[in-house]
Amino acid sequence: MTKVTREFIDGLPKAELHLHIEGTLEPELKLKLAKRNHVDIGQTTIEEVRKTYQYDDLASFLAVYYPAMDVLQHEQDFYDLAFDYLRRAAANNIRHVEIFFDPQAHTSRGIPFATVINGLHRAIVDARAMNVDADLVMCFLRDFSKESARKTLLEAMPFKDWILGVGLDSDEHNNPPLKFARQYEDAAAAGLHLTAHCDIDQVGSIDHIRQALEIMGVERIDHGTNIVEDPDLVAFVANHGIGMTTCPLSNSFVSPEMKGDEIKELLGKGVKVCVNSDDPAYFGGYVNDNYAALADQFSLTRDQVIQIARNSFDVSWISDEKKALYQAQIDDYIANN
Ligand code: ADE
Ligand code: ZN
Repeated sequence: MTKVTREFIDGLPKAELHLHIEGTLEPELKLKLAKRNHVDIGQTTIEEVRKTYQYDDLASFLAVYYPAMDVLQHEQDFYDLAFDYLRRAAANNIRHVEIFFDPQAHTSRGIPFATVINGLHRAIVDARAMNVDADLVMCFLRDFSKESARKTLLEAMPFKDWILGVGLDSDEHNNPPLKFARQYEDAAAAGLHLTAHCDIDQVGSIDHIRQALEIMGVERIDHGTNIVEDPDLVAFVANHGIGMTTCPLSNSFVSPEMKGDEIKELLGKGVKVCVNSDDPAYFGGYVNDNYAALADQFSLTRDQVIQIARNSFDVSWISDEKKALYQAQIDDYIANN
């Protein structure tokens, strides 16, 4: 079997559907913003910042992740964060990206919702010149109250045209999807798409996946590879074309491994699995690094890699016309490479 080359992966058109914009804060930009905004982050060099990046599960990761956001203060900071990521997305041949953002991680620090979204949206508009088409997906922090989620959804309403859907992230322990059933109902009634994190190896993973799918009606599950423990749920997601946005490198930071066998098993069962970077500044790589690590370490075939890229457009929330356009771009690429 011929090995899938990095060059092939790099050139392949793809979508990214599981990317936290706050997770793209590279040490360089963190230091630059700390200086610009006079925020003492406790480190002054890139090496010192990187040394703080030590975690082995979701909770220890989040304990590093949230304090780093203190450097994000002004609309221009959110613009710079998003534009830097979108430049990298273009270089990774990402044609479409649905970007998670965590408004409560900022509003809880006194930063207005409008400051956050105006900066992110302006970067998205400017990135169109690089041929990257981007949208925003607003996540509720599941370790905050449902009242806080309700307030956040209300704050988002004046900006509804800039938001494609809602998600659920942060610490899953004792925070099942069902806690936010009402907010998901309200979001759906407002015309927003629905997804939710069901993180790796959580207490109650299978129950959480079931709640998200059967009660809350999500169209995608973020992570969710524990689903392989329940063949009926696997059949459900395969039959309903539910997307599963996996993140191999991220998995290897918060659990002992990439969950490559699970990803391959799901792919083999016809589940619409795609590969994403989650928080690339923290988890050692952008989307092409994730494709390459998975392909290398789990011997993916060229057809499997292509299927993953096709799935990424299929389970995105773009129009059917755009989906057909991007699939045709993949057809062209594979005919010539
Ligand atoms: N916030 C940022 N990345 C996350 C992840 N992988 N799981 C939960 N919350 C997150
Ligand atoms: Zn995530």
